[in-house]
Amino acid sequence: PPLEDIWDLNDMQMAAKNVLSGKYYASYRTGALNEYTYNANLAIFSKIKLNGFGFRDVSNLQTATTILGHNFSQPFFIAPAADAGHANKSAEASLASAAGKAGILYVPSISSTLSIEKIAKAGLEGQVMFHQEYIWANTSRVIDELDRIKAAGFKAIFLTVDNTGINGIRTRSMRYTASEDTGHAANFDLDSLAAFRNLTTLPIVPKGIKTWQDALTCLHLGFPAIYVSNHGGRVLDGAPTSVEVLMDIRKNAPEVFSGMEVYADGGVRRGTDALILLALGARAVGLGRPPMFANIWGEAGVSRLIELFGQEMATSMQLMGVSDVTQLNTSYVNTNQIVSL
Ligand code: FNR
Repeated sequence: PPLEDIWDLNDMQMAAKNVLSGKYYASYRTGALNEYTYNANLAIFSKIKLNGFGFRDVSNLQTATTILGHNFSQPFFIAPAADAGHANKSAEASLASAAGKAGILYVPSISSTLSIEKIAKAGLEGQVMFHQEYIWANTSRVIDELDRIKAAGFKAIFLTVDNTGINGIRTRSMRYTASEDTGHAANFDLDSLAAFRNLTTLPIVPKGIKTWQDALTCLHLGFPAIYVSNHGGRVLDGAPTSVEVLMDIRKNAPEVFSGMEVYADGGVRRGTDALILLALGARAVGLGRPPMFANIWGEAGVSRLIELFGQEMATSMQLMGVSDVTQLNTSYVNTNQIVSL
């Protein structure tokens, strides 16, 4: 369908389902096992109420923020997702350029279709991008990739720590392709995490934090940020949603929010979903599947996604009486329906 007939991120997913082969659509769409966590990621947002304050001037709306000290136009970013080439032959290039033109952050996956260098070149002059990395069993591969990432101009590493060695069992996708050996290292412990930090001078953000205890550990180890995520429900089925993890950190280790930046993702499909995570303490919110689906139209689709999502966020902020996105806090959400962990 033409982009003019697309009105939200769900339309984009439906269009992608019609256009992509069953195998490639499933590879993007799949969660692990029963997909309880995948479904909970989507459902949790309907259980939270947004408080809308009146009697405020919201005519001058600010959505800009900083992520690790870099300026971006929006508090949402394109999360790392493998194999963008399955949706479009421009692959990650359209994600990079659309993000650059909109002034938002893009974080390519290390399992991308295009090389580190090609993705860097697809960005605009001066565009800040971070890069995702895995803990491969082969350390020299890790060192080589980290050097190339830095040389290509990426400004930080999102280090994915939630599927090192053991990956999720993605039944929906396995019906088309048996799960391949990912070559990750399963013996990644705290010493390994500390050792990893000696492999690059770039700031490192552990991605896939699912407990307040791990969040606190990262704070104590001096990381500049953490990324709360259950990998879009693709790894541990039964893992809590980011809403629940953020609330749990707030209850048990609130110093995490003052001591480091916190990012979050999972099931974000509406501007209001992002506002909930921001109000619960996330500084920025990631979109995983939606940009992959939007990429069936290439850069134009990804640009349209950013525009639509930005409009939903902006309008909802104004309806809540918030004029600056950095001012969001827990006074804007009612979480009474969420049973504490
Ligand atoms: C991912 N994700 C992911 N994460 C990561 O750190 N490295 C990767 O290579 C990938 N690859 C990947 C592929 C695909 C097809 C998907 C859908 C996801 C996880 C991703 O970064 C993010 O955490 C989730 O996708 C967020 O959930 P939503 O927005 O998809 O609901």
